[in-house]
Amino acid sequence: MIRSSIFTFFMAISATTTVLSAETSSTFSMIKPRAVQEQHIGEILARIESSGLKVAALKMTRLSQEQAKTFYKEHEGKPFFNALIEKMTSGPVVAMVIAGSGEEATVMRLRAIIGATNPEKAEPNTIRALFGKNVTENAIHASDSEESAKREMQFFFKPDEIF
Ligand code: GTP
Ligand code: MG
Repeated sequence: MIRSSIFTFFMAISATTTVLSAETSSTFSMIKPRAVQEQHIGEILARIESSGLKVAALKMTRLSQEQAKTFYKEHEGKPFFNALIEKMTSGPVVAMVIAGSGEEATVMRLRAIIGATNPEKAEPNTIRALFGKNVTENAIHASDSEESAKREMQFFFKPDEIF
């Protein structure tokens, strides 16, 4: 009787652990026009995938002025805003939803792989250190919180386009 209760107890713990480790979280990311133009899409995706993260949605598109201004609304009025909009609308981007499993949030995992905003200050081997040209053309965008990730992926993708 005691044995079977202990067995049931450990089975329950093991099931809970399995569910937790299988849990996924996701973030939004976008390869910026200059990195697309310089043909770094494949290398950037390879770095994301080889880190264990998964591509859950993928779309090549070109932002209109209006879309870019809405997407980067939080930066409106800042000195770099106009340059940012100009560069972000200068050619196609690759928008994606990136998913990961495990306890560490995917938002932070992807931000770590991408590196600091300024490519000159980005840690070696990060995407921005490798492929960024300057702070405006820093190769890639990634959401900075769960809330912005949700908003940004809805900006680009319908629910049935995310796998
Ligand atoms: P994103 O992933 O693109 O959102 O970058 P971030 O979260 O590292 O930086 P942030 O959201 O503060 O800024 C958005 C984008 O604006 C950056 O990716 C840069 O391209 C640009 N940016 C931010 N700060 C500066 C700045 O001080 N100067 C210039 N020229 N551009 C900036
Ligand atoms: Mg940001």
